[in-house]
Amino acid sequence: MPSPIMIDARGISKSYQRGVPVLDNVTVSLRRGEMVALIGASGSGKSTLIRAIAGLTPIDGGRNGTGGRIEMLGEPIQSNGRLSTNRNMRARIGVIFQQFNLVPRLAVLTNVCFGLLGRLPIVRGTLGQFNDDDKRVAMQALARVGIAEHALKRANELSGGQQQRAAIARSLVQGAELLIADEPIASLDPASSRRVMDLLADMNRNDGLTVFVSLHQVEYALKYCPRTIALKAGKVAYDGPSSALTPAFLNQLYGAESEELFLPSFEEQPRGTHTNGAVPTPAMAAVAAAKHAIEIERISA
Ligand SMILES: Nc1ncnc2c1ncn2[C@@H]1O[C@H](COP(=O)(O)OP(=O)(O)OP(=O)(O)O)[C@@H](O)[C@H]1O
Ligand SMILES: [Mg+2]
Repeated sequence: MPSPIMIDARGISKSYQRGVPVLDNVTVSLRRGEMVALIGASGSGKSTLIRAIAGLTPIDGGRNGTGGRIEMLGEPIQSNGRLSTNRNMRARIGVIFQQFNLVPRLAVLTNVCFGLLGRLPIVRGTLGQFNDDDKRVAMQALARVGIAEHALKRANELSGGQQQRAAIARSLVQGAELLIADEPIASLDPASSRRVMDLLADMNRNDGLTVFVSLHQVEYALKYCPRTIALKAGKVAYDGPSSALTPAFLNQLYGAESEELFLPSFEEQPRGTHTNGAVPTPAMAAVAAAKHAIEIERISA
């Protein structure tokens, strides 16, 4: 039997300016336990979709309640332009951002304890009064993501990869069932990127978390996510197995924009093969495909 539908987003649109939709009648659903990538060129609407599903950005309402809606396990996150005020619902969704969103001057341990806020009495949470049990839970999460030895450092003393792992630890203590990550590896080097993606995959496999992750680089979607949703100018251009995302298919889907979706080394053309405005020859395509394969192998190593 298929797993229940975790996220059901139907007919959602978003315009920051009247008449200029950034999301245009998007319908996507995620099943519990899936790990799904979201790809698309810059400006295609990835962050807007992620924020809408996380309940952080209100979608457009329609006349007479005809706007879209987003539900999590049958309960509304938002509908017809209205965000749900249900705090419990928020606590079930962990959100990871490219820029980590830790409080830089506070200890890593305290930052991770903030993940408990949804579960603590309001007074204790507001004052940041975390007790030994809270700290123990946070330390376990830091050990799980491999940075327990940095618990007492200030967040801004950690490397980018370590900060992202601290943010993941915060989602762990939050007890999130759905983890939504907006380009979590965009600021990281390849080694740190792999560690962060490995952690997300581990939480997906071993804790049963549903993971929805936007990625700029298709190679990571191929390696980590069985399914990919591709946005193009605010519409779903593809939703299916990641294995179909060959360079040729992406080129067909995005045209010149597809270059943006590969790792920089893939974009570099060998000297002499790049002629101004020329249509790529089969030989050039073969070189590009070979480089692509090497890059994927490097990521998989
Ligand atoms: N708060 C905002 N106010 C006005 N326009 C916005 C706002 N946020 C996003 N946009 C616009 O909406 C469009 C989609 O932006 P979004 O950030 O969702 O794209 P993205 O796919 O995440 O891009 P990137 O890959 O660069 O992160 C862009 O044209 C952007 O300028
Ligand atoms: Mg974005």
